[in-house]
Amino acid sequence: MHTILVTGGCGFIGANFLTMLVPRRPDWLFVNVDKLTYAGNPLSLESIRGAPNYGFERVDICDEEAVRHVFSAHDPDWVIHFAAESHVDRSIHGPVDFIRTNVVGTLTLLEACRGLWNGRFEGRLFHHVSTDEVYGSLGPEGRFTEATAYDPSSPYSASKAGSDHLVRAYHRTYGLPVKITNSSNNYGPYQFPEKLVPLMILNALEGQPMPVYGEGRNVRDWLYVEDHCDAILDVIERGSVGGTYNIGGGCERTNIDVVRAICAAVGRAAGRDPAAIESLVAFVPDRPGHDFRYAIDATKLSTELGWRPRESFETGLEKTVRWYMDNPRWVESVRTGEYRRWIETHYGAREHHD
Ligand code: NAD
Ligand code: TYD
Repeated sequence: MHTILVTGGCGFIGANFLTMLVPRRPDWLFVNVDKLTYAGNPLSLESIRGAPNYGFERVDICDEEAVRHVFSAHDPDWVIHFAAESHVDRSIHGPVDFIRTNVVGTLTLLEACRGLWNGRFEGRLFHHVSTDEVYGSLGPEGRFTEATAYDPSSPYSASKAGSDHLVRAYHRTYGLPVKITNSSNNYGPYQFPEKLVPLMILNALEGQPMPVYGEGRNVRDWLYVEDHCDAILDVIERGSVGGTYNIGGGCERTNIDVVRAICAAVGRAAGRDPAAIESLVAFVPDRPGHDFRYAIDATKLSTELGWRPRESFETGLEKTVRWYMDNPRWVESVRTGEYRRWIETHYGAREHHD
Protein backbone atom coordinates (compact mmCIF):
# COMPACT_ATOMS: atom_id res chain seq x y z
CA MET A 1 0.00 0.00 0.00
CA HIS A 2 1.34 3.40 -0.97
CA THR A 3 -0.13 6.88 -0.90
CA ILE A 4 1.30 8.64 -3.91
CA LEU A 5 1.06 12.35 -4.45
CA VAL A 6 1.33 12.96 -8.20
CA THR A 7 1.87 16.58 -9.24
CA GLY A 8 0.78 17.76 -12.69
CA GLY A 9 -1.43 14.72 -13.24
CA CYS A 10 -3.77 16.65 -15.56
CA GLY A 11 -0.96 17.36 -18.04
CA PHE A 12 0.18 15.19 -20.93
CA ILE A 13 2.56 12.74 -19.27
CA GLY A 14 0.92 12.84 -15.83
CA ALA A 15 -2.48 11.97 -17.33
CA ASN A 16 -1.01 9.04 -19.24
CA PHE A 17 0.72 7.86 -16.06
CA LEU A 18 -2.45 8.06 -13.96
CA THR A 19 -4.80 6.52 -16.53
CA MET A 20 -2.34 3.63 -16.93
CA LEU A 21 -1.53 3.11 -13.24
CA VAL A 22 -4.75 3.82 -11.31
CA PRO A 23 -6.55 0.72 -12.71
CA ARG A 24 -3.38 -1.41 -12.62
CA ARG A 25 -2.50 -0.70 -8.97
CA PRO A 26 -5.79 -0.76 -7.04
CA ASP A 27 -3.87 -1.05 -3.73
CA TRP A 28 -2.05 2.27 -4.32
CA LEU A 29 -3.83 5.50 -3.48
CA PHE A 30 -3.14 8.29 -5.99
CA VAL A 31 -3.66 11.96 -5.15
CA ASN A 32 -3.37 14.23 -8.18
CA VAL A 33 -2.20 17.73 -7.26
CA ASP A 34 -2.58 20.16 -10.15
CA LYS A 35 -3.14 23.89 -10.54
CA LEU A 36 -5.03 23.35 -13.82
CA THR A 37 -3.11 25.81 -15.97
CA TYR A 38 -3.87 26.00 -19.69
CA ALA A 39 -1.97 22.67 -20.00
CA GLY A 40 -3.98 20.76 -17.40
CA ASN A 41 -7.17 19.23 -18.75
CA PRO A 42 -9.41 17.26 -16.35
CA LEU A 43 -11.09 15.62 -19.39
CA SER A 44 -7.89 13.60 -19.86
CA LEU A 45 -8.71 11.77 -16.61
CA GLU A 46 -12.31 10.89 -17.42
CA SER A 47 -11.55 7.15 -17.46
CA ILE A 48 -10.44 7.17 -13.79
CA ARG A 49 -12.72 9.82 -12.30
CA GLY A 50 -14.61 8.13 -9.48
CA ALA A 51 -12.05 5.32 -9.05
CA PRO A 52 -11.82 4.51 -5.31
CA ASN A 53 -8.00 4.85 -5.33
CA TYR A 54 -7.92 8.26 -7.06
CA GLY A 55 -8.39 11.77 -5.72
CA PHE A 56 -7.79 15.29 -6.99
CA GLU A 57 -6.64 18.49 -5.30
CA ARG A 58 -6.48 21.77 -7.16
CA VAL A 59 -3.29 23.27 -5.75
CA ASP A 60 -0.53 25.53 -7.03
CA ILE A 61 2.76 23.85 -6.06
CA CYS A 62 4.24 27.30 -5.35
CA ASP A 63 1.64 27.96 -2.64
CA GLU A 64 3.49 26.87 0.52
CA GLU A 65 0.45 26.79 2.76
CA ALA A 66 -1.73 24.86 0.31
CA VAL A 67 1.10 22.38 -0.31
CA ARG A 68 1.65 21.87 3.43
CA HIS A 69 -2.08 21.36 3.86
CA VAL A 70 -2.30 18.73 1.14
CA PHE A 71 0.77 16.91 2.50
CA SER A 72 -0.57 16.76 6.04
CA ALA A 73 -4.05 15.77 4.82
CA HIS A 74 -2.80 12.82 2.73
CA ASP A 75 0.54 11.91 4.36
CA PRO A 76 2.08 10.59 1.10
CA ASP A 77 5.00 8.18 1.22
CA TRP A 78 5.85 8.82 -2.44
CA VAL A 79 5.79 12.02 -4.46
CA ILE A 80 6.00 11.84 -8.24
CA HIS A 81 6.65 15.30 -9.57
CA PHE A 82 5.46 15.98 -13.13
CA ALA A 83 4.08 19.52 -12.69
CA ALA A 84 5.93 22.11 -14.74
CA GLU A 85 5.66 24.78 -17.35
CA SER A 86 6.86 22.63 -20.24
CA HIS A 87 6.88 24.46 -23.58
CA VAL A 88 10.18 25.93 -24.83
CA ASP A 89 8.57 28.54 -27.12
CA ARG A 90 6.41 29.84 -24.27
CA SER A 91 9.51 30.09 -22.06
CA ILE A 92 11.17 32.28 -24.69
CA HIS A 93 8.19 34.65 -24.71
CA GLY A 94 7.73 34.67 -20.92
CA PRO A 95 10.34 33.00 -18.70
CA VAL A 96 9.01 34.16 -15.31
CA ASP A 97 6.32 31.49 -14.85
CA PHE A 98 8.93 28.85 -15.71
CA ILE A 99 11.23 29.88 -12.90
CA ARG A 100 8.29 30.18 -10.54
CA THR A 101 6.71 26.78 -11.16
CA ASN A 102 9.74 24.73 -12.14
CA VAL A 103 12.26 26.08 -9.61
CA VAL A 104 10.22 27.60 -6.75
CA GLY A 105 7.46 25.00 -7.09
CA THR A 106 9.96 22.14 -6.89
CA LEU A 107 11.61 23.77 -3.87
CA THR A 108 8.21 24.11 -2.17
CA LEU A 109 7.55 20.39 -2.65
CA LEU A 110 11.01 19.43 -1.40
CA GLU A 111 10.51 21.57 1.71
CA ALA A 112 7.10 19.96 2.31
CA CYS A 113 8.71 16.49 2.10
CA ARG A 114 11.52 17.51 4.42
CA GLY A 115 9.02 18.88 6.94
CA LEU A 116 6.53 15.99 6.75
CA TRP A 117 9.04 13.16 6.68
CA ASN A 118 11.28 14.89 9.23
CA GLY A 119 14.29 12.56 8.91
CA ARG A 120 12.14 9.38 8.84
CA PHE A 121 12.91 8.43 5.27
CA GLU A 122 12.34 4.66 5.30
CA GLY A 123 10.00 3.76 2.41
CA ARG A 124 9.74 7.39 1.25
CA LEU A 125 10.55 8.70 -2.21
CA PHE A 126 10.61 11.97 -4.13
CA HIS A 127 10.71 11.15 -7.84
CA HIS A 128 11.56 14.09 -10.09
CA VAL A 129 10.50 13.92 -13.74
CA SER A 130 12.93 15.88 -15.89
CA THR A 131 14.17 16.34 -19.41
CA ASP A 132 17.24 15.67 -21.56
CA GLU A 133 17.20 19.36 -22.50
CA VAL A 134 19.20 20.11 -19.33
CA TYR A 135 22.26 18.73 -21.15
CA GLY A 136 22.09 21.35 -23.92
CA SER A 137 22.71 20.70 -27.59
CA LEU A 138 24.63 17.91 -29.35
CA GLY A 139 26.42 18.10 -32.68
CA PRO A 140 25.94 15.31 -35.23
CA GLU A 141 27.74 12.72 -33.04
CA GLY A 142 27.44 11.41 -29.47
CA ARG A 143 24.62 10.88 -26.99
CA PHE A 144 23.75 12.20 -23.53
CA THR A 145 24.69 9.94 -20.62
CA GLU A 146 23.93 10.49 -16.94
CA ALA A 147 27.47 11.93 -16.62
CA THR A 148 27.03 14.61 -19.32
CA ALA A 149 27.54 18.13 -17.88
CA TYR A 150 24.47 20.36 -17.69
CA ASP A 151 24.43 23.13 -20.32
CA PRO A 152 20.83 24.32 -20.80
CA SER A 153 19.93 26.73 -23.61
CA SER A 154 16.34 27.93 -23.09
CA PRO A 155 14.64 29.43 -20.04
CA TYR A 156 12.64 26.16 -19.90
CA SER A 157 15.70 23.92 -19.83
CA ALA A 158 17.53 26.26 -17.44
CA SER A 159 14.57 26.10 -15.04
CA LYS A 160 14.49 22.28 -15.25
CA ALA A 161 18.27 22.17 -14.68
CA GLY A 162 17.78 24.37 -11.60
CA SER A 163 15.10 22.01 -10.29
CA ASP A 164 17.30 18.94 -10.88
CA HIS A 165 20.13 20.59 -8.91
CA LEU A 166 17.78 21.35 -6.02
CA VAL A 167 16.52 17.76 -5.92
CA ARG A 168 20.08 16.43 -5.81
CA ALA A 169 21.06 19.01 -3.19
CA TYR A 170 18.21 17.83 -0.92
CA HIS A 171 19.52 14.29 -1.22
CA ARG A 172 23.11 15.23 -0.44
CA THR A 173 22.32 17.76 2.27
CA TYR A 174 19.31 16.31 4.07
CA GLY A 175 19.39 12.69 2.95
CA LEU A 176 15.98 13.04 1.25
CA PRO A 177 15.39 9.86 -0.79
CA VAL A 178 15.17 11.13 -4.37
CA LYS A 179 15.38 9.76 -7.89
CA ILE A 180 15.57 11.73 -11.13
CA THR A 181 14.68 10.68 -14.67
CA ASN A 182 15.72 12.73 -17.71
CA SER A 183 13.63 11.81 -20.73
CA SER A 184 13.79 12.70 -24.39
CA ASN A 185 10.84 14.20 -26.35
CA ASN A 186 7.55 12.40 -25.76
CA TYR A 187 4.54 12.08 -28.04
CA GLY A 188 1.19 10.30 -27.69
CA PRO A 189 -2.39 10.87 -26.45
CA TYR A 190 -3.39 13.95 -24.39
CA GLN A 191 -0.49 16.15 -25.56
CA PHE A 192 -1.41 19.83 -25.81
CA PRO A 193 -1.34 20.85 -29.49
CA GLU A 194 1.40 23.43 -29.05
CA LYS A 195 4.10 20.72 -29.27
CA LEU A 196 5.40 19.54 -32.63
CA VAL A 197 3.66 16.16 -33.04
CA PRO A 198 0.04 17.02 -32.07
CA LEU A 199 0.26 20.44 -33.73
CA MET A 200 1.30 18.85 -37.02
CA ILE A 201 -1.28 16.04 -36.80
CA LEU A 202 -4.15 18.48 -36.24
CA ASN A 203 -2.95 20.95 -38.89
CA ALA A 204 -2.55 18.10 -41.37
CA LEU A 205 -6.08 16.86 -40.62
CA GLU A 206 -7.52 20.37 -40.91
CA GLY A 207 -5.58 21.55 -43.97
CA GLN A 208 -3.75 24.25 -42.02
CA PRO A 209 -0.12 25.35 -42.64
CA MET A 210 2.46 23.11 -40.93
CA PRO A 211 5.19 25.49 -39.62
CA VAL A 212 8.69 23.95 -39.57
CA TYR A 213 11.39 26.02 -37.85
CA GLY A 214 14.52 26.83 -39.89
CA GLU A 215 15.27 24.08 -42.37
CA GLY A 216 13.78 21.30 -40.25
CA ARG A 217 17.18 19.69 -39.74
CA ASN A 218 17.14 19.71 -35.92
CA VAL A 219 17.05 16.25 -34.41
CA ARG A 220 15.01 14.92 -31.47
CA ASP A 221 14.97 11.40 -29.97
CA TRP A 222 11.27 10.45 -29.87
CA LEU A 223 9.71 8.34 -27.12
CA TYR A 224 6.11 7.11 -26.95
CA VAL A 225 4.61 8.44 -23.72
CA GLU A 226 3.54 5.00 -22.38
CA ASP A 227 7.12 3.77 -22.70
CA HIS A 228 8.20 6.80 -20.66
CA CYS A 229 5.59 5.99 -17.98
CA ASP A 230 6.74 2.35 -17.83
CA ALA A 231 10.32 3.54 -17.37
CA ILE A 232 9.33 5.90 -14.54
CA LEU A 233 7.55 3.01 -12.81
CA ASP A 234 10.64 0.80 -13.19
CA VAL A 235 12.86 3.49 -11.67
CA ILE A 236 10.44 4.19 -8.81
CA GLU A 237 10.11 0.51 -7.91
CA ARG A 238 13.64 -0.74 -8.59
CA GLY A 239 16.00 2.17 -9.29
CA SER A 240 18.66 3.22 -6.80
CA VAL A 241 17.93 6.00 -4.34
CA GLY A 242 19.87 9.15 -5.23
CA GLY A 243 20.18 7.83 -8.79
CA THR A 244 19.62 9.51 -12.13
CA TYR A 245 18.36 7.61 -15.19
CA ASN A 246 18.19 8.80 -18.79
CA ILE A 247 15.16 7.63 -20.77
CA GLY A 248 15.14 7.69 -24.57
CA GLY A 249 13.37 5.93 -27.39
CA GLY A 250 16.44 5.42 -29.59
CA CYS A 251 14.32 7.02 -32.35
CA GLU A 252 16.30 9.95 -33.67
CA ARG A 253 14.57 11.86 -36.43
CA THR A 254 15.04 15.26 -38.05
CA ASN A 255 12.00 17.48 -37.62
CA ILE A 256 11.28 17.43 -41.33
CA ASP A 257 11.31 13.63 -41.30
CA VAL A 258 8.87 13.66 -38.39
CA VAL A 259 6.58 16.02 -40.27
CA ARG A 260 6.75 13.89 -43.43
CA ALA A 261 5.99 10.76 -41.40
CA ILE A 262 2.96 12.57 -39.94
CA CYS A 263 1.78 13.53 -43.45
CA ALA A 264 2.03 9.89 -44.51
CA ALA A 265 0.33 8.54 -41.35
CA VAL A 266 -2.52 11.08 -41.57
CA GLY A 267 -2.86 10.32 -45.30
CA ARG A 268 -3.23 6.58 -44.54
CA ALA A 269 -5.58 7.00 -41.59
CA ALA A 270 -7.82 9.62 -43.23
CA GLY A 271 -7.66 8.20 -46.77
CA ARG A 272 -6.06 11.38 -48.14
CA ASP A 273 -3.23 12.08 -50.57
CA PRO A 274 -0.01 12.48 -48.51
CA ALA A 275 1.53 14.74 -51.19
CA ALA A 276 -1.37 17.18 -50.81
CA ILE A 277 -0.84 17.17 -47.05
CA GLU A 278 2.92 17.74 -47.49
CA SER A 279 2.19 20.83 -49.56
CA LEU A 280 0.99 22.41 -46.28
CA VAL A 281 4.55 22.39 -44.89
CA ALA A 282 5.82 25.95 -44.44
CA PHE A 283 9.40 26.72 -43.42
CA VAL A 284 9.30 29.57 -40.90
CA PRO A 285 12.01 31.59 -39.03
CA ASP A 286 14.02 29.51 -36.58
CA ARG A 287 13.51 29.44 -32.81
CA PRO A 288 16.16 31.58 -31.01
CA GLY A 289 18.79 29.41 -29.31
CA HIS A 290 17.33 26.33 -31.01
CA ASP A 291 19.21 23.23 -29.77
CA PHE A 292 20.43 21.28 -32.78
CA ARG A 293 20.24 17.71 -31.59
CA TYR A 294 19.18 15.62 -28.58
CA ALA A 295 20.01 11.91 -28.31
CA ILE A 296 19.83 9.72 -25.23
CA ASP A 297 22.07 6.89 -24.16
CA ALA A 298 19.65 4.76 -22.08
CA THR A 299 22.20 1.99 -21.37
CA LYS A 300 21.99 2.46 -17.59
CA LEU A 301 18.21 2.05 -17.57
CA SER A 302 18.26 -1.00 -19.82
CA THR A 303 21.16 -2.83 -18.16
CA GLU A 304 20.19 -2.03 -14.54
CA LEU A 305 16.42 -2.33 -14.83
CA GLY A 306 15.82 -4.17 -18.10
CA TRP A 307 13.63 -1.39 -19.57
CA ARG A 308 13.11 -1.29 -23.34
CA PRO A 309 10.65 0.85 -25.31
CA ARG A 310 7.78 -1.22 -26.73
CA GLU A 311 6.81 1.17 -29.52
CA SER A 312 8.81 2.06 -32.60
CA PHE A 313 8.34 5.59 -33.90
CA GLU A 314 6.13 4.22 -36.68
CA THR A 315 3.79 2.21 -34.42
CA GLY A 316 3.65 4.98 -31.80
CA LEU A 317 2.86 7.61 -34.41
CA GLU A 318 0.12 5.47 -35.93
CA LYS A 319 -1.55 5.14 -32.50
CA THR A 320 -1.15 8.86 -31.84
CA VAL A 321 -2.72 9.92 -35.16
CA ARG A 322 -5.63 7.54 -34.48
CA TRP A 323 -6.08 8.95 -30.99
CA TYR A 324 -6.34 12.56 -32.21
CA MET A 325 -8.79 11.49 -34.92
CA ASP A 326 -10.90 9.50 -32.44
CA ASN A 327 -11.04 12.20 -29.77
CA PRO A 328 -12.47 15.36 -31.35
CA ARG A 329 -14.21 16.30 -28.09
CA TRP A 330 -10.88 16.45 -26.25
CA VAL A 331 -9.30 18.45 -29.08
CA GLU A 332 -12.24 20.84 -29.20
CA SER A 333 -12.18 21.36 -25.44
CA VAL A 334 -8.52 22.33 -25.58
CA ARG A 335 -9.02 24.60 -28.57
CA THR A 336 -12.07 26.48 -27.34
CA GLY A 337 -11.06 26.63 -23.71
CA GLU A 338 -14.29 24.74 -22.90
CA TYR A 339 -12.48 22.85 -20.16
CA ARG A 340 -11.42 26.15 -18.57
CA ARG A 341 -15.09 27.04 -18.17
CA TRP A 342 -15.68 23.56 -16.75
CA ILE A 343 -12.90 24.18 -14.22
CA GLU A 344 -14.39 27.48 -13.09
CA THR A 345 -17.83 25.89 -12.72
CA HIS A 346 -16.52 22.94 -10.73
CA TYR A 347 -13.75 24.55 -8.73
CA GLY A 348 -14.50 28.28 -8.87
CA ALA A 349 -11.84 30.40 -7.23
CA ARG A 350 -10.99 27.75 -4.64
CA GLU A 351 -7.38 26.70 -4.79
CA HIS A 352 -7.94 23.37 -3.05
CA HIS A 353 -10.74 21.37 -1.60
CA ASP A 354 -10.95 18.81 1.19
P1 NAD B 1 2.29 19.61 -19.54
O1 NAD B 1 2.63 21.03 -19.83
O2 NAD B 1 1.45 18.85 -20.52
O3 NAD B 1 1.54 19.51 -18.13
C1 NAD B 1 1.98 20.18 -17.00
C2 NAD B 1 0.95 19.99 -15.88
O4 NAD B 1 1.45 20.67 -14.71
C3 NAD B 1 -0.43 20.58 -16.20
O5 NAD B 1 -1.44 19.70 -15.77
C4 NAD B 1 -0.45 21.87 -15.38
O6 NAD B 1 -1.77 22.26 -15.00
C5 NAD B 1 0.41 21.49 -14.19
N1 NAD B 1 1.03 22.68 -13.54
C6 NAD B 1 1.72 23.67 -14.15
N2 NAD B 1 2.09 24.60 -13.24
C7 NAD B 1 1.63 24.15 -12.04
C8 NAD B 1 1.72 24.67 -10.71
N3 NAD B 1 2.33 25.82 -10.44
N4 NAD B 1 1.16 23.94 -9.71
C9 NAD B 1 0.52 22.75 -9.97
N5 NAD B 1 0.41 22.25 -11.21
C10 NAD B 1 0.95 22.94 -12.23
O7 NAD B 1 3.69 18.88 -19.29
P2 NAD B 1 4.14 17.39 -19.70
O8 NAD B 1 4.55 17.40 -21.12
O9 NAD B 1 3.13 16.43 -19.20
O10 NAD B 1 5.47 17.24 -18.83
C11 NAD B 1 5.43 16.69 -17.51
C12 NAD B 1 6.85 16.72 -16.94
O11 NAD B 1 7.70 15.95 -17.79
C13 NAD B 1 7.46 18.12 -16.88
O12 NAD B 1 8.17 18.23 -15.69
C14 NAD B 1 8.38 18.17 -18.08
O13 NAD B 1 9.47 19.03 -17.84
C15 NAD B 1 8.84 16.72 -18.18
N6 NAD B 1 9.21 16.26 -19.53
C16 NAD B 1 8.36 16.43 -20.58
C17 NAD B 1 8.74 15.93 -21.83
C18 NAD B 1 7.82 16.06 -23.03
O14 NAD B 1 8.22 15.69 -24.14
N7 NAD B 1 6.60 16.53 -22.87
C19 NAD B 1 9.97 15.28 -22.00
C20 NAD B 1 10.81 15.13 -20.89
C21 NAD B 1 10.41 15.61 -19.65
P1 TYD C 1 8.71 20.89 -29.29
O1 TYD C 1 7.60 19.92 -29.51
O2 TYD C 1 8.35 22.31 -28.93
O3 TYD C 1 9.71 20.23 -28.23
P2 TYD C 1 11.19 20.73 -27.73
O4 TYD C 1 11.39 22.13 -28.18
O5 TYD C 1 11.05 20.62 -26.25
O6 TYD C 1 12.16 19.76 -28.33
O7 TYD C 1 9.58 20.95 -30.62
C1 TYD C 1 10.21 19.80 -31.16
C2 TYD C 1 11.05 20.24 -32.34
O8 TYD C 1 10.19 20.73 -33.37
C3 TYD C 1 11.99 21.39 -32.01
O9 TYD C 1 13.21 21.20 -32.71
C4 TYD C 1 11.27 22.62 -32.53
C5 TYD C 1 10.49 22.09 -33.70
N1 TYD C 1 9.19 22.75 -33.97
C6 TYD C 1 8.89 23.19 -35.28
O10 TYD C 1 9.70 23.06 -36.21
N2 TYD C 1 7.66 23.76 -35.49
C7 TYD C 1 6.75 23.95 -34.50
O11 TYD C 1 5.65 24.52 -34.75
C8 TYD C 1 7.08 23.49 -33.17
C9 TYD C 1 6.10 23.66 -32.04
C10 TYD C 1 8.30 22.89 -32.97
